Amino acid sequence: MLKPHNIAEVKFEAVKEIGQEGRNSTAYIVQDLQLDAQIVMKRIEKKSIASADEYFQEARTLYASSHQNVVPVIYACEDAEHVFIALPFFKNGSLKALMQERNLTVREIVRTSCQLLSGIHNIHSKGLIHFDIKPDNVLLSDRGEALLSDFGLAKQMHLGQAEQSRLYLPITAPEVVNGGGPYDLRFDIYQFGLVLYRMCCGEGCLRDQLGQLDPKNFLPHLAKVLADGTYPDKSTFPEHIPDRLRKVIVKCLSTDPNDRYGSALEVANALADVEDCLDWTYVVEAGERSWVRQEGETEKRFRIAGDGSTEFTATKNGTTRRKKSALQGLHDNSWNKKSIEGRRMKVVKNNPKTYRRRETAAPKSHKVISDAQKKKALSDFTNARISNGLYIELRPNLPSSKR
Ligand SMILES: Nc1ncnc2c1ncn2[C@@H]1O[C@H](COP(=O)(O)OP(=O)(O)OP(=O)(O)O)[C@@H](O)[C@H]1O
Ligand SMILES: [Mg+2]
Repeated sequence: MLKPHNIAEVKFEAVKEIGQEGRNSTAYIVQDLQLDAQIVMKRIEKKSIASADEYFQEARTLYASSHQNVVPVIYACEDAEHVFIALPFFKNGSLKALMQERNLTVREIVRTSCQLLSGIHNIHSKGLIHFDIKPDNVLLSDRGEALLSDFGLAKQMHLGQAEQSRLYLPITAPEVVNGGGPYDLRFDIYQFGLVLYRMCCGEGCLRDQLGQLDPKNFLPHLAKVLADGTYPDKSTFPEHIPDRLRKVIVKCLSTDPNDRYGSALEVANALADVEDCLDWTYVVEAGERSWVRQEGETEKRFRIAGDGSTEFTATKNGTTRRKKSALQGLHDNSWNKKSIEGRRMKVVKNNPKTYRRRETAAPKSHKVISDAQKKKALSDFTNARISNGLYIELRPNLPSSKR
């Protein structure tokens, strides 16, 4: 007869630690002895969580957000000091790792974005704001598809809004310093815009721009550039980034949330219209910039040398021919006929059977922010405690339910 247990044992052996930036937790590849399989165990210290009620919050949120573009949870368990979340092991790692290896082509950027947006749309439809969308929190499946992960900061919305006082500085949305919370899903749209920006301009571009801020006056300086919209710098993009894509980025990154897209689906639909310059790989090496594209057996290459001279070559079967060097050639549409997978989002939008979930567009709210609110938000930000790398806690003394 089946004897029910209240408590059972889970056995696993650590294989190795992964995730260099896992500052809220430690992630390990482990051998699960019951399943006889390698999985990932995310270990979170109980003392880092405000109350026992919240121990399994991240695991519950992940479980409730099940979707093909959200990392699935296998199970969650605890010991005396830790909470563990068991996840499938994604051997392709994070989007950040891929971006550190090489720049993505525009086609890859659009495809990855549409997958990620599909995951974001799903969590928004379930009333959640993620609050920590960044390339290291996007994992890649064996087929290279993007899955949103790390729900450590996710919050349930109430009447379309949620409070959040724990933020990762490089990806803080400007509303944090322009009046403060509560925030709506356009916070995630902004953070998605930053992922898109980094995919186009290079993984390290935000780090470089943050490095130019005054280290002695870091938080006030960051508050200023966030509020005036000069961080991140949206004035220059690599030449091959099509205008339509630039416009999507700029709109996602608007300082005023009312000027952003109202939903993840709207962003995906705008991206589906990007059809120019899809397959160039942008390479920056030793002061030289080049764009490479494989066309059948021919490799096409534009090169801008350190001295500013340009060259356009086509190499086939070991023979290289020089061509007229015009950077404009990068935008030659005739080379870009293949469709982008992302376009199917258009169909999804018009198919009520597929998308029966409730509408997830944030209402345009022109909330009036008083001077006192602005002053308080700014002072919360500039007086925040920086911990664990570049995470900040805005109001550490508030009870966790109010943050
Ligand atoms: N299932 C997985 N498969 C492969 N790698 C993973 C997996 N889960 C996490 N990682 C790696 O470990 C890192 C840290 O995991 P996660 O983001 O969930 O934790 P975190 O402590 O909240 O991180 P951070 O503080 O950097 O946001 C990820 O960025 C990723 O590189
Ligand atoms: Mg993370």
